[in-house]
Amino acid sequence: GVIYRDGVSGVRPTVPTAFPELERRAARVLSAKAYAYVAGSAGLESTADANRRALDRHHIVPRMLRDVSARDLSVELFGRRLASPLLLAPIGVLELVHPEADVAVARAAAAEGVPYILSTQASRPMEQCAAAMGDAPRWFQLYWSKSEELVASFLARAEAAGCEALVVTLDTTVLGWRARDLDLGSLPFSQGQGIAQYTSDPVFRRLAAERAGQPKTGPKPKVTPAAVRSLFSIARTHPGPMLRNLRSPLPRAAVETFLDIFSRQDLTWGDLARLRSMTRLPILLKGLQHADDARRALAAGVDGVIVSNHGGRQVDGATGSLDALPGIVEAVGGRVPVLFDSGVRGGADVFKALALGARAVCVGRPYCYGLALAGADGVRQVIQNLRAELDLTMALTGCASLADLTPDLLAPA
Ligand code: FNR
Repeated sequence: GVIYRDGVSGVRPTVPTAFPELERRAARVLSAKAYAYVAGSAGLESTADANRRALDRHHIVPRMLRDVSARDLSVELFGRRLASPLLLAPIGVLELVHPEADVAVARAAAAEGVPYILSTQASRPMEQCAAAMGDAPRWFQLYWSKSEELVASFLARAEAAGCEALVVTLDTTVLGWRARDLDLGSLPFSQGQGIAQYTSDPVFRRLAAERAGQPKTGPKPKVTPAAVRSLFSIARTHPGPMLRNLRSPLPRAAVETFLDIFSRQDLTWGDLARLRSMTRLPILLKGLQHADDARRALAAGVDGVIVSNHGGRQVDGATGSLDALPGIVEAVGGRVPVLFDSGVRGGADVFKALALGARAVCVGRPYCYGLALAGADGVRQVIQNLRAELDLTMALTGCASLADLTPDLLAPA
């Protein structure tokens, strides 16, 4: 309501309302490398296009003469009632986007009551974000490290920092083929950005110190191509920029240790039982696209799934994320919440995902661009716009609560 009134009363927002202009304006303020990192997707970026096409192929069919005078956008997730079905997706390396990085996002999320999923690749330690959030909801996203001890430490810290759920991202056993980053020679993490969760961790610091041979003096260990390859498949063909960039202001050992232990590629469904025993938090699996994987997730006893293809940043040529949603919703059969992300740019997109059975929706790039343009306030405006547009879309389609968002309100384009 307030946003709508502002818009017609001549007050110009500092952050553009529609996504295409938001992205254009952000592109102008971000460095070329930062913009490439945020906007880029894998390969020919056909999955990112497919994410949009999947949303665009569904049209909303409005219904009339239903009482929509009182609308309720609230939803319950893991015992908490949220004012809207929105979450901020985990985004790494936000120091490229804004000097306040994750802490600005944390403040915005808390002010809007929208859960913030803190990334393993964050630019600020989770404790700093938590301190900026009071008792507002936050979750922790895990990349499952080769060091189980580090995983255990991350989980203990997340619990102590008041995170209310654990999101395990499964689609990033290695980083995708990011053509824009490759062509700029700007491979993320390689200069020590996005590893604050690690460098603030006692287990990680011990591992890095051991690697550096501290407190001994002597020559620093060389960056081994094997360590680089273990994270970046792209380094097989582009080792040059990767190794050059490793002349980092941080102790090289920290970057090397991170590259070495970032992610396991040998995980299987059987490993989830061990994770289950390591935390009391609800566990969600992020990155599912196949209904059989959703069935396996249920069999493994997880508490939720996030249908996502990482915003098209991992597998080029993959299915549009929304196309994967109905099959997974059906497989899950209401037993645990199904969340959705990848390609959501406006309130109508949120509406479509909810109508197809998502309990809530995560957004990624839109809030990065709000952050780029106006810091925490920019993130708030992006959230407010999404919520207001969802609210208006519900009013105009005859929906008074989220339970009214059903598949029959959609038609194929
Ligand atoms: C991501 N994403 C991501 N996911 C994750 O689990 N951990 C992470 O650290 C990151 N980092 C990250 C950085 C950037 C710049 C982007 C754009 C994305 C994926 C993210 O959580 C989410 O799945 C997508 O952003 C959703 O797609 P949209 O909304 O960006 O299209």
